[in-house]
Amino acid sequence: MEVKIAVLASGAGSNFKALVEGETEPGVVDILLTDNPNAGALKLAAELGVEARYLYPGKYRTRFGIEEERLWADFLLDRGVQLICLAGLMRIIKGPLLDAYRGRMLNIHPSLLPAFPGLDAQGQAFSYGVKIAGCTVHYVDDGTDTGQIILQKAVPVLESDQRDSLAARILLQEHEIYSKAVKAHCLGRAVYSKVIR
Ligand code: GRF
Repeated sequence: MEVKIAVLASGAGSNFKALVEGETEPGVVDILLTDNPNAGALKLAAELGVEARYLYPGKYRTRFGIEEERLWADFLLDRGVQLICLAGLMRIIKGPLLDAYRGRMLNIHPSLLPAFPGLDAQGQAFSYGVKIAGCTVHYVDDGTDTGQIILQKAVPVLESDQRDSLAARILLQEHEIYSKAVKAHCLGRAVYSKVIR
């Protein structure tokens, strides 16, 4: 049975594209939702033939208004969306939307969590001087990047790296592991198996 996925993105949308084009069955990307009318993801959605909507997120800058979170949740529930994939959504979700999709909301984060949660994880890792960076797909809970981990991928830091070259290599691995984690979740295997291949 198909699992309807909504991708929520604020920016360029390369992870959204990777989920549309990746092997996620029985998960299928049904819609892109954005809080940013200028998101590059909207253009990608048009190119990929995926329905896309801008929904007003409320008056705050880094989170949703409670009423707006309720509206987003109602919109997605009415549509029969069963899984939310956050892909560069620049807002914290804490209210009715998380309540409606707890255990059914994934996020991609560009570090090996629990190291370097929050903004600019790649820059944090680079400045710290780690030799191994990476990325993580995890469930969303009430904390910042603290939910249960599904998949991680390590990315070695090269002698020649700058923050941006490291971030670019991490991004390529994000695209790989996000589809795999989504597939595992949709098959009911994300929490039970220790290792997903
Ligand atoms: C990615 O690095 C993701 O890990 C982070 O935001 C970035 C989004 O990139 N949460 P894109 O919009 O998917 O290209």
